[in-house]
Amino acid sequence: MRLIQCGLGGMGAHWIRMLRDQSEFEVAAFVEINPETARRRAEEYDLDAKRIYLSLEAALASVEADAVLDVTPPDAHRPVAFTALDAGLPVLAEKPLAGTRADAEAIVEKSSRTGVLHMVAQNYRYSPVAQTVRRALDAGDLGPVGAVSVRFFKGPHFGGFREIMAHPLIVDMAIHHFDMMRFFLGGSPVEIYARSWNPPWSWFQGDASAAVTARFESGAVVSYTGSWCSQGQETPWNADWRFDCADGVLTLQDDRIYVQRRGQTAREEILPLKMERQAQAYLLHEFYQAVTTGTTPATTCQDNLNTVNFVFDVVQSCATGEVVRREQ
Ligand SMILES: NC(=O)c1ccc[n+]([C@@H]2O[C@H](COP(=O)([O-])OP(=O)(O)OC[C@H]3O[C@@H](n4cnc5c(N)ncnc54)[C@H](O)[C@@H]3O)[C@@H](O)[C@H]2O)c1
Repeated sequence: MRLIQCGLGGMGAHWIRMLRDQSEFEVAAFVEINPETARRRAEEYDLDAKRIYLSLEAALASVEADAVLDVTPPDAHRPVAFTALDAGLPVLAEKPLAGTRADAEAIVEKSSRTGVLHMVAQNYRYSPVAQTVRRALDAGDLGPVGAVSVRFFKGPHFGGFREIMAHPLIVDMAIHHFDMMRFFLGGSPVEIYARSWNPPWSWFQGDASAAVTARFESGAVVSYTGSWCSQGQETPWNADWRFDCADGVLTLQDDRIYVQRRGQTAREEILPLKMERQAQAYLLHEFYQAVTTGTTPATTCQDNLNTVNFVFDVVQSCATGEVVRREQ
């Protein structure tokens, strides 16, 4: 499958490396609006500079392609998606689906109307630990989940768009954890209350810390606390999780999974299952299957709107100080 990859920044470089190992794909062209970034990546990855275009429109006019990979910043996702979908090309796009709720809804509407696939790269679902947690909860012997607590603490210095956006933690990072909540609990929140703030030592302009309470369709209540300007004792990127269930407790701590069933005196470790493909490799394969055989991926933009709504309901609650309720 011939891809056009848009965006050659930090994550764009990661996708270049991923794509080199995927025999199902060849990259027909790259698009990068910053010539200096384009030049640097061409040098680093030995790319043909003539195949790097300044716009998706220019690339489409010059090369034959079957699909578009969008690794641009959130605010560029809508224009990139519109150009691709209008040209009839399916899109695999980085999260968040878009930088605003309105842009996300517009992409979903365009994909539904044109009938062209738009899929979101929610890679955190497709790690061995996330798949193993889901499998352990689905097995049923722990009973229904009543409460979940999630802790996420990191202190990255990214520079770039994250350090100037209004809600860097919620929109750019917690979106992974919110999507994992939907994946683990098999539903979406119906009630959200959230507060965000920026600690005095934060190097982000927007709020780098947040606390969220979300009640899910099943009745399970999730408490999420996170910060992107933590000064030590960091958690993994997956965060640390505790699921309190009717018949026991499951934890994901430092990327290791433990279960303690009701009546047991000690917890036991569950080893992560083996996956043939994970993260971006899994998504690429799922995208390839969908485009070539018509299967429906789990993270279509239509489904992903639930994750986006979760994110922007949290932002709305932070702004208004009120509970946001949503019918499912
Ligand atoms: N899934 C993950 O784990 C993960 C990790 C990091 C980033 N991301 C996501 O990937 C996306 C990109 O993040 P990043 O860290 O690479 O950002 P970045 O700022 O490092 O790179 C983005 C690049 O896109 C270019 N660009 C902007 N508009 C463009 C357009 N219209 N066409 C082509 N290129 C354009 C910019 O010049 C820049 O080089 C974001 O949506 C981000 O949230 C996902």
